[in-house]
Amino acid sequence: MKTDGLDLASRSGWPDDLRHLLERYPREVWTGHVNLGDMARFWLARHEMFRELSQALVQAAGALREGDVPPDQFRQWFAPRLNFLLGELQTHHMIEDRQYFPVFVRAETSLAKGFDVLEADHETIHHALDDLARSGQMLAGAVDGGTPLVTRAADGFATVSDGFMKILLQHLADEEDLIVPVILDRTEAGLGIG
Ligand SMILES: [Fe+2]
Ligand SMILES: [Fe+2]
Repeated sequence: MKTDGLDLASRSGWPDDLRHLLERYPREVWTGHVNLGDMARFWLARHEMFRELSQALVQAAGALREGDVPPDQFRQWFAPRLNFLLGELQTHHMIEDRQYFPVFVRAETSLAKGFDVLEADHETIHHALDDLARSGQMLAGAVDGGTPLVTRAADGFATVSDGFMKILLQHLADEEDLIVPVILDRTEAGLGIG
């Protein structure tokens, strides 16, 4: 897929040719806008959940490393939430790729390149999710192994999760900047997604 140098690891927002609708509908006007319907609110709430949950996982790993949380309690809290994040993100991306992106591209063909970029992001994030899952499982498995093992696993997770957070947050923000203005401009009913 052609992403014109807009790959997730190196970009910081959209270039001018993909910002014309965002200029008309900047973030400041989103909340409370009459065209921000139920679907958009639900979808933005999912993004917020992904942000909060991934941040909470990072913080929990840090607390384990510092000895601020009992190992058993950590594992019980951490493992199901990591699995939940992995599963929910995969489902979320699948629905976006198959169901929503085609609708937005049809409605606003001038943004087609942006949706190609977002789809490529999903691939990148899936690879990063594999790394995150591996690193998280190692951490959850290390809690019985004593302090040096926990410290090493927590350091490894911190490195992997830092990289993951960076690309996840960039993707969520750019995706919102591309999609919400289309919804505000055309309405959910007009797009057939309300
Ligand atoms: Fe996405
Ligand atoms: Fe998304």
